[in-house]
Amino acid sequence: MRILLFGATGMIGSRIAAEAGKRGHEVTGATRSGKDGTLAADASDVDTVARLAAGHDAVVLAVAPSRGGIEASESLLEVGRGVLHGVRRAGVRRLVVVGGAGILEVSPGVRVVDTPGFPEDFLPWTLAQVALFGLVQGNADDLEWTYLSPPAMVEPGERTGAYRIGDHQLLTDGEGNSHISTEDYAVAFVDELERGELTRRLAHVAY
Ligand SMILES: NC(=O)c1ccc[n+]([C@@H]2O[C@H](COP(=O)([O-])OP(=O)(O)OC[C@H]3O[C@@H](n4cnc5c(N)ncnc54)[C@H](OP(=O)(O)O)[C@@H]3O)[C@@H](O)[C@H]2O)c1
Repeated sequence: MRILLFGATGMIGSRIAAEAGKRGHEVTGATRSGKDGTLAADASDVDTVARLAAGHDAVVLAVAPSRGGIEASESLLEVGRGVLHGVRRAGVRRLVVVGGAGILEVSPGVRVVDTPGFPEDFLPWTLAQVALFGLVQGNADDLEWTYLSPPAMVEPGERTGAYRIGDHQLLTDGEGNSHISTEDYAVAFVDELERGELTRRLAHVAY
């Protein structure tokens, strides 16, 4: 499979690139900086996305412009718009997005982002991730998209190959923890790229 991956040097994007590469997929990595052998390309630029995406089987969005305030939040939505239009223009149908845990529900109707004590510093960014889901869900009926939310904690660790798939409810382990290693998130992500079983929906990956 030929995969165009925006955010290829990131904590999550680099693991997806490694996992996909190990399975023999051809990954074109793209970032704004062009570091570490990636192509220098801004995912919010429709023309750039369309040009790069042409000839690929799937586009992956694993972009985090920077953590923080309103500006970062707006730029995530600009990235979402750029990728949706660019992918469509290139004639690529498959789009898989690294989502956020904030949209997942801890109880019926109560999302992680709505819980009392949710860290204020993370709020703009988390709401932007929620808005990105709305953007994709509302504007990509013609695409085979998936928004794959990690759990609350996703950090570098061991590749065990173990994970569970949920939908809009936050999955926790036997001790009540919502977590996964970035390596195992990448395993689930590449499994979904290969299988296409979770199209046009929010899905969740965790231990
Ligand atoms: N628990 C959770 O819900 C959770 C936890 C972690 C991450 N996430 C989500 O996972 C995604 C990836 O996060 P991460 O931690 O892996 O990010 P990261 O380590 O900060 O990496 C971000 C990547 O995006 C690239 N990038 C930023 N803006 C870009 C643009 N406009 N065009 C192209 N590339 C761009 C960066 O490279 P350049 O700077 O060179 O462009 C870098 O490769 C984010 O959407 C984040 O919200 C969710």
